[in-house]
Amino acid sequence: MGALKGRDLLSLADLSTEEVLFLLDFAAQLKSGSVQPRCPKVLGLLFSKASTRTRVSFSVAMGHMGGQVLDLNSNLTQMGRGEPVEDTARVLDRYLDVVAIRTFEQAEVETFAHHAKIPVINALTDLEHPCQILADLQTVFEAFSTFDGLTMTYLGDGNNIAHSLLLGCALVGLNVRVATPQAFQPLPEIVAKAKEIAGDRSSITITTDPEQAAKGAHILYTDVWASMGQEDKADDRVPIFMPYQINAPLMALADPAAIVLHCLPAYREKEISHGVMESSASRIWDQAENRLHTQKALLASVLGAEI
Ligand code: CP
Ligand code: NVA
Repeated sequence: MGALKGRDLLSLADLSTEEVLFLLDFAAQLKSGSVQPRCPKVLGLLFSKASTRTRVSFSVAMGHMGGQVLDLNSNLTQMGRGEPVEDTARVLDRYLDVVAIRTFEQAEVETFAHHAKIPVINALTDLEHPCQILADLQTVFEAFSTFDGLTMTYLGDGNNIAHSLLLGCALVGLNVRVATPQAFQPLPEIVAKAKEIAGDRSSITITTDPEQAAKGAHILYTDVWASMGQEDKADDRVPIFMPYQINAPLMALADPAAIVLHCLPAYREKEISHGVMESSASRIWDQAENRLHTQKALLASVLGAEI
């Protein structure tokens, strides 16, 4: 889709429904091997947080397309010594063709994008993780061949994953329920945006009741209870979040054909039981694989690759 060439992806709400469906279809073609884009361009990975999946899947995607990747871990660059993001953006813009940024503040990716002409991709901030949710939607579509009439239930912390998931489900018309402890609900402005996108097409429910949220759901999804940068709060959160664990009793409330997703990394017996993670309902490894296909579709699209 030509409309994606040169575009940033800072929030999932930057994409229209048609653009998300285009990327999912393109990702499915990439996965089947029916298309093999060529894109001998250079991607910079400007990461201030740890990453296994995002780093490796972006790198492998560029490699498959004949491109290159530069690892710009913030402690290897002058950014780690205080060079402003505005200056870094204007310089890297002259060398790179696309950049993926993983950092804390959403404002940092927005400032970078404001000062760079190349496409800027949010590879996770405290606010959003749009690339993850593209892979999640591909995984849901593979399992059910539709989004219509399905309900996605997210349990745990109302964090970056919950935010992008709300927006992503709204974009494709999945009903979404988010169950969190009262003090950990998703930001009201993200919920409002998701409701605006969903319109009458699908429902959005924010609740503190994990059992009500799980009832009849087709997809159960969870993430860590303490995100990167919150490690010191992890122990205190365990008793607060334990009722939101995805385990066998919770699965018994969901649709009998329900699948389970987790963006990974996972902490077994915290947000998800070992048994559920290893059960036949788990699509977690397909979900991780789909990071490669959806991000390759995204890179090829924003770079205007030859198909
Ligand atoms: N799910 C995800 O983004 O994993 P990484 O933190 O390993 O990149
Ligand atoms: N919410 C998690 C997601 C990790 C992929 C975090 O930000 O650490």
